[in-house]
Amino acid sequence: MTVSYKDLGLVNTKAMFKKAFELKFAVPAYNFNNMEQLQAIVTGCAESDSPFILQVSSGARKYANQTLLRYMAQGAAELLKELNPHLKFALHLDHGDTFELCKNCIDSGFSSVMIDGSHHSFEKNIELTRQVVEYAHQHDVTVEGELGVLAGIEDDVVAAESVYTQPDEVEEFLEKTGVDSLAISIGTSHGANKFTPEQCTRNAEGVLVPPPLRFDILEEIEKRIPGFPIVLHGASSVVPEYVNMINSHGGALKDAVGIPADQLRRAATSAVCKINIDSDGRLAMTAVVRKVFHDSPAEFDPRKYLGPAREELKKMIIAKNQDVLGSAGKGKLIWG
Ligand code: G3H
Ligand code: 13P
Ligand code: ZN
Repeated sequence: MTVSYKDLGLVNTKAMFKKAFELKFAVPAYNFNNMEQLQAIVTGCAESDSPFILQVSSGARKYANQTLLRYMAQGAAELLKELNPHLKFALHLDHGDTFELCKNCIDSGFSSVMIDGSHHSFEKNIELTRQVVEYAHQHDVTVEGELGVLAGIEDDVVAAESVYTQPDEVEEFLEKTGVDSLAISIGTSHGANKFTPEQCTRNAEGVLVPPPLRFDILEEIEKRIPGFPIVLHGASSVVPEYVNMINSHGGALKDAVGIPADQLRRAATSAVCKINIDSDGRLAMTAVVRKVFHDSPAEFDPRKYLGPAREELKKMIIAKNQDVLGSAGKGKLIWG
């Protein structure tokens, strides 16, 4: 049975990206795999009146079951009507790697999909992306493509080094594919260890300082495709407080380092209209779960550790929306 996202009360990314560009903020895209993450995302964004994108990876579909996930997202849309009636969200496939997967998601109520052909040749990336766009646009579903490769794990492929997006490829890619947004590689990367210690410098306290993002490449791209929505993957800050909390409660995260918040803030005021955050949410929940297990070793009710973890994730999301993405309070300006 196929279902349109419109019947579920969801939206594609067009209106939110248009406003994000005009008002110089970025829409947060948060990944979810379970109920607690979903609750934190929906309640956090409802309270901060932030447009948002709910992201599902193929790993999340396998973990939570694709049928259940879809109904969870539908449930989230119903909950949002109660919490913040004018606010809307997009349900987005993260790192789709085949036409079939994208089609399956479109047919089951997703309003947006990413086709990540970045590991293919330029020509093959165009061909695959074009195929997805043709199908998606028949259903008014928006499509994110990618040019350039991020270091870290992407599509189950581990790339040791970033391959930055080449600005002189973007116009041809957009023209030939018809994508609605473009993910680029300017030095971000997936996961909690975005840079090796050798790639970083150390400040006076010995804390790792990552190399700055390549804003020069971003500016070059913006010049070639003015007003076009750009996406940043691998944009968690790897919040040091959470890393320290994990490590001081039995964890062993070594040399974890992310993208500093001030660089994301700067990116959000540019053509970057979507910022992907998954690892920071994982770290927030893990930090709290570890602390509860450490402080209350006799605890065995999942609600007693997942509940506080959910609260921390919600707090983190509200703070990101307000202080980093600048998306808080923008819901009413788009749909109010
Ligand atoms: O970009 C990758 C996302 O963080 C999703 O990760 O494939 O482990 O669900 P996952
Ligand atoms: P992080 O690992 O930095 O959170 O990136 C998530 C992401 O890009 C999901 O597609
Ligand atoms: Zn990603």
